[in-house]
Amino acid sequence: MTETAVTEQQTNVPKVPTLPNAETITDVKHWTDRLFSFRVTRPASLRFRSGEFVMIGLMGDNGKPLLRAYSIASPSWDEELEFYSIKVPDGPLTSKLQHIQVGDQIILRPKPVGTLVHDALLPGKRLWFFATGTGFAPFASLLREPQTYEDYDEVVITHTCREVGELAYGAQLIEDIKNDELLHELIGPDFHKKIRYYPTTTREESPKMGRITDLMRSGEVFADLGIDPINPESDRAMVCGNLAFNLEIKELLEGYGLEEGANSAPKQYVVEKAFVD
Ligand code: A2P
Repeated sequence: MTETAVTEQQTNVPKVPTLPNAETITDVKHWTDRLFSFRVTRPASLRFRSGEFVMIGLMGDNGKPLLRAYSIASPSWDEELEFYSIKVPDGPLTSKLQHIQVGDQIILRPKPVGTLVHDALLPGKRLWFFATGTGFAPFASLLREPQTYEDYDEVVITHTCREVGELAYGAQLIEDIKNDELLHELIGPDFHKKIRYYPTTTREESPKMGRITDLMRSGEVFADLGIDPINPESDRAMVCGNLAFNLEIKELLEGYGLEEGANSAPKQYVVEKAFVD
């Protein structure tokens, strides 16, 4: 124990973080052997827009911070921050991060950025969230953001994963949203009826199988949901998945006549790469 720590304990001074930008873990949930989510204290000064990401990490063995971009999965009004992560066995950060426990500290640089924000889209009627794997994270934030329901009549969230277990975080979140009293107070009594959840798997049997891109090309997704195909007048989209997926969805959306927007020039869709180790 260091001299400082002894002094702190004797005088009941709260523990001073030993890391720069340190935040404390308040909850950890393991969803599969490859996926986990965790919550941390929120820096008092941190303001962000739902859908943005920050750099988080741990101190590396060389004494330098090891940071990666992580979408904030909690909404902008939440008093804590939530993150959803993959566990890569030999990943420099996630091989260590997957072992964090309540009370541990992580480094969090309070500089939020990103394109998956409402400001980057023009007004529309139906909002599509297209995710693969941990690309669900920014949508976990936006699905709990009042503006999502103020701005749109309908919100379609598609999530494509290899296996059924990988859908659990998203499925549970949507179930929790339906029963969340605070959200109903914040947004309105029936807001959750605007959510259309469309999960699909590609490598394990489930009620809906196939890549969302193929289901769009065949028209199956629109038939299943009983809605018209995507068009630039009414539909807006946010995309977050692996690189190949993002490129394919981009091409499809452009084919429907949607154009890519940015913070500085809002248009009909926006894309961000899901961040992995
Ligand atoms: P598939 O199993 O057919 O590769 P990953 O874990 O590799 O990031 O993939 C997550 C999910 O995204 C998987 O279900 C995978 O399907 C799907 N996927 C990967 N590439 C594409 C793509 N180009 N278009 C649509 N879905 C994709």
